[in-house]
Amino acid sequence: MTTTLTSQPIAINIDGKKSAAKLLENTAQEVCQLKQQGITPCLAVVLVGDDAASHVYVRNKLRTAEQVGIKSIELRFDAQLTEARLLATIDELNNDPAVHGILVQLPLPQQINESAIVRAISPVKDVDGFHPQNAGGLVQGQRVITPCTPLGCLLLLQEYGGDLSGKHAVVIGRSNIVGKPMASLLLHAHCSVTTLHSRSRDAAQLARQADILIAAVGQPQMIDASWVKPGALVIDVGINRVTRPDGSTRLVGDVDYDSVSLVAKAITPVPGGVGPMTIACLMQNTVLAAELQLQQAAG
Ligand code: GUN
Repeated sequence: MTTTLTSQPIAINIDGKKSAAKLLENTAQEVCQLKQQGITPCLAVVLVGDDAASHVYVRNKLRTAEQVGIKSIELRFDAQLTEARLLATIDELNNDPAVHGILVQLPLPQQINESAIVRAISPVKDVDGFHPQNAGGLVQGQRVITPCTPLGCLLLLQEYGGDLSGKHAVVIGRSNIVGKPMASLLLHAHCSVTTLHSRSRDAAQLARQADILIAAVGQPQMIDASWVKPGALVIDVGINRVTRPDGSTRLVGDVDYDSVSLVAKAITPVPGGVGPMTIACLMQNTVLAAELQLQQAAG
């Protein structure tokens, strides 16, 4: 008898859609409870310019808000908007007691200083968790509004990886939106954390030591099996649109799913992995923001 050796994918596919649906059910219940106290959580989403991907993300956020009973307001501006006008809009939203969460979709046109905009949003309405007060609070382990994507990644890791304590987590990427807050969250979950970036030496060799590997580099399919320890949990934060030879396009992550799924224990697909969790966490953050403002009002 002859045996044919074939490579079979062995990794568990981490179903972000399913996990997000569970989270959204909980959020919808919390929204109901707030409504019983006379508060309808409200999320204001500001979209500047005509970046196609941003339009898709904002549409998904607004649709999900409606699904869980969160009121939403969409404010659209053309790409010529001035920084002063955007700051004035944020000021109005900060002072509107009916608005609990403010999200300014990034990236912004180049004439607008992103950091000035992020700092202008009231920290209790900052549902992205990007304000320096929230970013600093996260580093110090305070109960603050936490960036949605890293929070979604952590929830998936806890669901599929159990207790993370003592595990070696490697985060590839050091952005303020994902890499840095992700490293803080993993540290609070008692992981040993390594952050890799474009200047890291021997990055693949360091990544191969990870029990948990988070890829947030923005490079299509850069992380192949040679970066992954057998049995690792792999979370792919990347969403990259690539063009096929026939001119059509498709979405791929930062991880080469086909090769990595032969060695990893579990892996998130793109789409359908981290993306739905990011949006579900945004809804959860909007509820948290409404609760924080309720507490603040009660003194
Ligand atoms: N652009 C890409 N990701 C994000 C995000 O999480 N929040 C905002 N505001 N803009 C983004």
